[in-house]
Amino acid sequence: MPLATKIPIDLSGGLQSVSSHNQWMEHWKLPIHTGYYIEDLRTMNLGWWEERKCQAAFLQLSGQEGVCESRVVEIAPGESLPPVKFGLDEIVYVLQGQGVTTVGASAGSGKTFEWQVRSMFLIPANTTHTISNVSGTTPARLLTYNFLPMAMAAIPDPDFFFNNPILDPNAAVLGDDRFSQAKAVPGARGRSSWVGNFFPDMAAWDRLDPLRERGAGGRSVSVEFPNSPHHCHMSVFPSRTYKRAHRHGPGFVIVIPGGEGFSVMWQEGQEDNKVYVPWHEASCFVPPNKWFHQHFNVGANHGRYLAFHPPIAFSGFERVDRASDEIPYTEEDPAIRARFAEELGKRGLTPAMPDEAYKNPNYEWVYKEEGGAN
Ligand SMILES: [Fe+2]
Repeated sequence: MPLATKIPIDLSGGLQSVSSHNQWMEHWKLPIHTGYYIEDLRTMNLGWWEERKCQAAFLQLSGQEGVCESRVVEIAPGESLPPVKFGLDEIVYVLQGQGVTTVGASAGSGKTFEWQVRSMFLIPANTTHTISNVSGTTPARLLTYNFLPMAMAAIPDPDFFFNNPILDPNAAVLGDDRFSQAKAVPGARGRSSWVGNFFPDMAAWDRLDPLRERGAGGRSVSVEFPNSPHHCHMSVFPSRTYKRAHRHGPGFVIVIPGGEGFSVMWQEGQEDNKVYVPWHEASCFVPPNKWFHQHFNVGANHGRYLAFHPPIAFSGFERVDRASDEIPYTEEDPAIRARFAEELGKRGLTPAMPDEAYKNPNYEWVYKEEGGAN
């Protein structure tokens, strides 16, 4: 088993030190992609990662802010990656390809499951996993999400987190139903959650509940992983609509399973410096800490985004007045509505936003279960 051995972490710079996680990333000499977004993770530039025997690159987008690590790895056709034991839970989302993963207490043991494009799974901490591409012709690309930057800020020792023989894999709960298909279960406030370790196709899931407070007739589902600090949510909203602007803390990495649109992100007081993020399947972006962001669907079909969440302490709703973290349609800059119409016009489409939504602060979309269209 390969070991991430003795990567030197220099803490001598005091407050001027590069973070331990950054030093760990830089050690591998892989591309580290910065900026606000990656339009297509399937074509993003990668480099050879000798230890893991794959092409890979790290994401360090504005908004990750030392909270979470994301990287893209590419497995060549017919290849298996060396087994890795990692000391933290890690979410894996499949950008492209198909394969199998074995997860257990040691290399080659445990549970094996198959995945395909747009599958998602969670590898529990301290287990050993092996990932293989079963296609003989097509590379497989995966996006990962974990909390390693925070963990390494507290324990700046890579050998603690990789292939540490002392950490007990059996401490990770590996029940018999792990990696069977996730299930919908009733959740709080009448909303259902989607619970499990393996989600076969994020684009196909259609059991989403109305998310009235964000507008646009959108729906959402909360994704929960048993015994894990991780959670996600996925939102779906109709063609030719857009959601209310809102803001929260850092570390929410968003990837698109399907649809076509754009998102706009800006800092309060910097309304003239908005960042426009075009998106389609396999686009990725991370709203920076407390920046407003707003999602627009300019495609002919529903838009769908999947957000990996930071720990709950980073959700950024610390203010008592949460209303200031959301902008109602009735109070937004009219230029937003105009830009949306302009973008749709380029595609021969017109907005499906009701005029009433801009006049009545209590306007609500009517959902199918109430006899409506959404
Ligand atoms: Fe958000």
